[in-house]
Amino acid sequence: MVANTIKFLLNNELVKIENLDPNTTVLQYLREEQFKSGTKEGCASGDCGACTVVLAELDTENSGQLTYKSINSCITFVGNLNGKQLITVEDLKEGAQLHHAQQTIVDNHGSQCGFCTPGFVMSSFALHKQNNKPNRAEVLEALAGNLCRCTGYRSIIEAAMTSSEGNQEDSFAKHYQQTLVTLTELEKLPTPTLHGNGNTYIAPQNIDELATELTNEPKSTIVAGGTDLALSVTQNLAVVKKLVYVGNVAELTTIEETESEIIIGSALPYSDFINTLHHYYPDLGDMIERIGAKQVRNTGTLGGNVGNASPIGDMPPALIALGATMTLHLNGTERTILVEDFFLDYKKTVLQTSEFIKSITIPKPVAGQTLKLYKISKRLDDDISAVLAAFFIEQTPTENGQKITNIRLAFGGMAGIPKRGPAAEAALLGKNLTKESVAQAKAALATDFQPMTDVRASDKYRMTVAQNLIEKCYLELQSAHTREVIETRVVNY
Ligand SMILES: Cc1cc2nc3c(=O)[nH]c(=O)nc-3n(C[C@H](O)[C@H](O)[C@H](O)COP(=O)(O)OP(=O)(O)OC[C@H]3O[C@@H](n4cnc5c(N)ncnc54)[C@H](O)[C@@H]3O)c2cc1C
Ligand code: FES
Ligand code: FES
Repeated sequence: MVANTIKFLLNNELVKIENLDPNTTVLQYLREEQFKSGTKEGCASGDCGACTVVLAELDTENSGQLTYKSINSCITFVGNLNGKQLITVEDLKEGAQLHHAQQTIVDNHGSQCGFCTPGFVMSSFALHKQNNKPNRAEVLEALAGNLCRCTGYRSIIEAAMTSSEGNQEDSFAKHYQQTLVTLTELEKLPTPTLHGNGNTYIAPQNIDELATELTNEPKSTIVAGGTDLALSVTQNLAVVKKLVYVGNVAELTTIEETESEIIIGSALPYSDFINTLHHYYPDLGDMIERIGAKQVRNTGTLGGNVGNASPIGDMPPALIALGATMTLHLNGTERTILVEDFFLDYKKTVLQTSEFIKSITIPKPVAGQTLKLYKISKRLDDDISAVLAAFFIEQTPTENGQKITNIRLAFGGMAGIPKRGPAAEAALLGKNLTKESVAQAKAALATDFQPMTDVRASDKYRMTVAQNLIEKCYLELQSAHTREVIETRVVNY
């Protein structure tokens, strides 16, 4: 059963949308349909944060709770609002009383032209809702996706630090129980759809419904967070005829752990699995914290990152280095392949018509294994990589030192697809990591890749940096080993 409508809470009011082109973004909907122009458009590509709004959702892990997430409304399709609460800057204040997240901006002189201000307020509001006493690092992380050209960040950061002090009773806190009840009821409604301008949107609720939908409508386009796909609409003015949203499919939005593996649903946003991966692979957790900014990580997914098959996506090289596998689903039949085998050519994958990515499985680390990740980009936060290097090295102690018994050196930004460097790997396999073997691997890498020149980096820069990262990895492992030996000697002494 399907409903020709989507329903959600706009602030504290239940609204439904019918007959609207599903290519409409939340930003367009707010400004052009609701005449709420407090939310600004800066870039329309997810980069500036001026359009930040907050989504409250039922926390599936923690029933009876809501989670508040900042998102970029300019790259979120309106259908993705179904069953959620959309909170916008207009409704933060109560009567004439500004919300604390707004008042602290005033008190700290955090606004000049004011264009960026609503976005900063909403990021600060989302942080404040999830965390009563954030530290400076958490404030910086929450605001990293918001750009300001006039004020300077110090006053804005001060504002966000103080806005989170204490537990502020706002209208959303007062309506909390009612919001929970409404969102729980919305969850039980039939599969939402939206039609307009000859285009359609559907949000299947389970894997069978999704598989059937994609089989019946093979020309459909899957959308998860939309942080890649929506750009084709806002930047290239593409029109997507049939959008199939995977974010409601229970089987695609879970994370499971077995003794030896972590299985991540393809439609689970980064924010919901980053902590688990950080626990097992700290380098990977740190790298994911540099994928876009908080707004992007709150909606962007692993399935979208891999499915997009961009040569500069950050997760594929990491997954390839880890020997991760992916489960693909086609009309009731599943197959499992190495992530490494998914990419055929620039933006071409093995995915068949109507097939989709169900989940990605990452092996847990065992003794002797190391994962090192290096993201090279012009800015630390919210920037796409020029080169992403992911090194998995397994070493076994022998009489002559630590022999490399398994190695995967994977790169993004070095070819039309994310891929391994077989010659460089061969130069190291079976050897100890030494100055000489590393020099051979660096030389061999030049035969593995012929990188391109683009706005992010020249071919020469890419090759030089990739070679130097192998050496950096060696030096870091060597100094870690030296520290270990010294510490052991100190303990033994
Ligand atoms: C400002 C900004 C910064 C960014 N920074 C980074 C960055 O630092 N590193 C990085 O790697 N990426 C970055 N991205 C790109 C993007 O956020 C990621 O690739 C994200 O993981 C995409 O996930 P999504 O759910 O939003 O994908 P969507 O946009 O929903 O989908 C992307 C593609 O994958 C397909 N797809 C989605 N799910 C599936 C599935 N289950 N099965 C098959 N196909 C599927 C879709 O059809 C579409 O073609 C950035 C994007 C923005 C806007
Ligand atoms: S308008 Fe810049 S991130 Fe949305
Ligand atoms: S106050 Fe002008 S862009 Fe921030």
